[in-house]
Amino acid sequence: MVDKYYSTQNMIVSINNQFYLYRFPKNMSSEKPKTATNIQTIAEKVERLEAMNEEALKGGGDDRIAKQHEKGKLTARERIDLLLDPDSFQEIGKFVTHRATDFGMDKQKILGDGVVTGYGTIEGRLTYVFSQDFTVFGGSLSETFAEKIVKIMDLAMKNGAPVIGLNDSGGARIQEGVVSLGGYADIFYRNTLASGVVPQISAILGPCAGGAVYSPAITDFIFMVENSSYMFVTGPNVVKTVTQEDVTSEELGGAQTHASKSGVTHFACANEAECILQIKQLMSYIPSNCEDDPPRLEYELGDETRAGLDTLLPDNPNQPYDMHEVIDGIVDTDSFLEVHKDFAGNIICGFARLAGRSIGIVANQPMVMAGVLDIHSSTKAGRFVRFCDSFNVPLLVLVDVPGFLPGTDQEWNAIITNGAKLLYAFSEATVPRISVITRKAYGGAYDVMNSKHIGADMNYAWPTAEIAVMGAQGASEIIFRKEIQGAKDPNKKHQEKINEYTEKFANPYIAASRGFVDEVIMPKNTRIKLIHAFSMLENKVDQLPRKKHGNIPL
Ligand code: HXC
Repeated sequence: MVDKYYSTQNMIVSINNQFYLYRFPKNMSSEKPKTATNIQTIAEKVERLEAMNEEALKGGGDDRIAKQHEKGKLTARERIDLLLDPDSFQEIGKFVTHRATDFGMDKQKILGDGVVTGYGTIEGRLTYVFSQDFTVFGGSLSETFAEKIVKIMDLAMKNGAPVIGLNDSGGARIQEGVVSLGGYADIFYRNTLASGVVPQISAILGPCAGGAVYSPAITDFIFMVENSSYMFVTGPNVVKTVTQEDVTSEELGGAQTHASKSGVTHFACANEAECILQIKQLMSYIPSNCEDDPPRLEYELGDETRAGLDTLLPDNPNQPYDMHEVIDGIVDTDSFLEVHKDFAGNIICGFARLAGRSIGIVANQPMVMAGVLDIHSSTKAGRFVRFCDSFNVPLLVLVDVPGFLPGTDQEWNAIITNGAKLLYAFSEATVPRISVITRKAYGGAYDVMNSKHIGADMNYAWPTAEIAVMGAQGASEIIFRKEIQGAKDPNKKHQEKINEYTEKFANPYIAASRGFVDEVIMPKNTRIKLIHAFSMLENKVDQLPRKKHGNIPL
C-alpha cells in the first residue's frame, strides 16, 4: 500500500507502513507525481540537479556578488575562468555544505561552502586550483571548506601537478571555533608535505589575516594586488592597542608593503587581471612537479654574439652599471621574469629562457648598494635558489660583488646566519650551475656566489673580473701599512702598492691558472658560451650524501 503526505518542502511517502522522507530541492515544484509508484520522474531528478548546479554558481547571492564587483574584485569563479584554459575547469565538491549547527548556522547552508575547488589546464598543463568565495560567509574557512582544499592538494601531490590558491577570506569561520583552526592546520601540513613536490602558488586577492597567512607563506610564490589585498598576522586595531601605532591595512600589509619592505610577496600587481596573467607567465618557466623538466620552447641557433656587452662596463671599476642590461644581453629576447623586483634590489632573481630553455638567474646588482650581499639579499636569493633546485631549473649566477655589508645593523640582525642561507642553498643545489664573474668577486662573497669550490659546474670570467680577498685600496692599507707609513711620500707609496696589488690580484688570471675559473671569455660571447655549457650539462646527475634532511641555518 502506498500513501503520500505533502508539505511545500517535503513529501512523506509510506510504502507498506515504511515511511520515506523526500525533501524537494529549492525552486522545484511540489506538484504530485503523475503515477503512484514513480516517486520522482527522471525529468524531475534532472531538474533537481540543474537547480542545485545553478544555486551553487550563485555563491552568496546576487547582492553580495554586486558588492564584490563594487570593490573592484572578481568573484571566485570569474577568477578561475581567467586563470584556466577555456572550458577546462572541472569542479570538485560543488555541493559540499558545512556541518555547523550553532548560531543558526543549520539554517544557512550554501552549496560549495565558500570555496570553489577543482582542476583544469593552463596552456594545456594540468593544474589544481582553489578559489575562496568572499560572498559566502566572507570566504571564511570552515571544517568542510578546509576538507575541500585538502582533497585537491592530495590529488595534486599524487598526480604531480601545481596547486594555485586564490585567497580572499575573512579567516577562520568564527561560528565553528577550533574545528576551523584544525582545518587550517590540515592545510599547513599539506603545504609543507607538498613543498618541493609540486609548485604551490598563492594569490592574495582580498583579506588574508591571522594564522591564515601561514598557508601562503609556505607556498613557493605569493602574488598580491595593490589596494585590494592585505596580509598581516595582527590587524591595525590590535597594532594600535599594543604598540599605539596608527597604521592602515594597506600600510601594514598591502601589496607594496610586502613587495618592498618585508619581501613576503614576490609580485605586486596593479589589478586582478594582471595578477592572473603573471601567474600564468610564471607557470611557463616551471615544471609540473619535482620529477619533471621545465617547459622548453623550440629554438634554432643563429648568430648569438652580443657585441653590446663588450662596451657595457665603465672603465672605472667603482662606477656602477645596470646588471639588467647584462641579463638582457644574455637571455632570449624579452624572456626575463623578475621575482621580488622591489625587494633587496642589490640582488636580482628571476626566470628567463636561454635558447628556449628555462633558467633561473641570480645576479648582483652594482646599481644598488654596489651589489653588496646583506641579510635581505641573501635570504631572497637563497629561497630562489632552493626553488630552482627543487624543480630542476638550471641556475645562472652573474657575479659582481664587493663583499658583505659591514655594520652593527647587519651583525646584530644576524648577517652571519642569513648569509649562510645563500651559501648553504648554492652548496646543496644539484641542478646545472654556471657562474659568470663580470667584475668584482671579493672575499667570502666570492665563495658564496656559486664558486667552483661549492659545486658550480662551469665558472666563466670576463677580462674585467677582479677576484681577490678584498679591493686593492683596503688590501694595500693593511698589508703594506708599515712600508707606506715609513715612506718619504706615503700617498705616492700607497698608490704604488695599490697598483702592485691590482696588477697581481685584480684580474681573473690567477683563478684561471688554478682552474677555479674554467675560461676567461669576451662578454659578447657570453650567450653562446652559456648555451653550449647548459646543453653540455643537460643530463647532469649529482647526489647529496644520504641523510634524512640537512639543517639549513634558518
Ligand atoms: C564568519 C565572516 C567572517 C568570519 C566575515 N564574515 N568574516 N563570517 N567568520 N571570520 C562574514 C560577515 O559576517 C559578512 O556576512 C560577510 O562575511 C562579509 O563581511 P563584512 O564584514 O561585511 O565585509 P567587509 O566589510 O569587507 O570586511 C571584511 C573583513 C571583516 C575585514 C574580513 O569581515 C572581518 O574583520 N572579519 C573578521 C575577521 C576575523 O577576525 N577573522 C578571524 C581571524 S583569526 P554577511 O552575511 O553580512 O554578508 C583567524 C585565525 C586563523 O583567522 C588561524 C589559523 C591558524
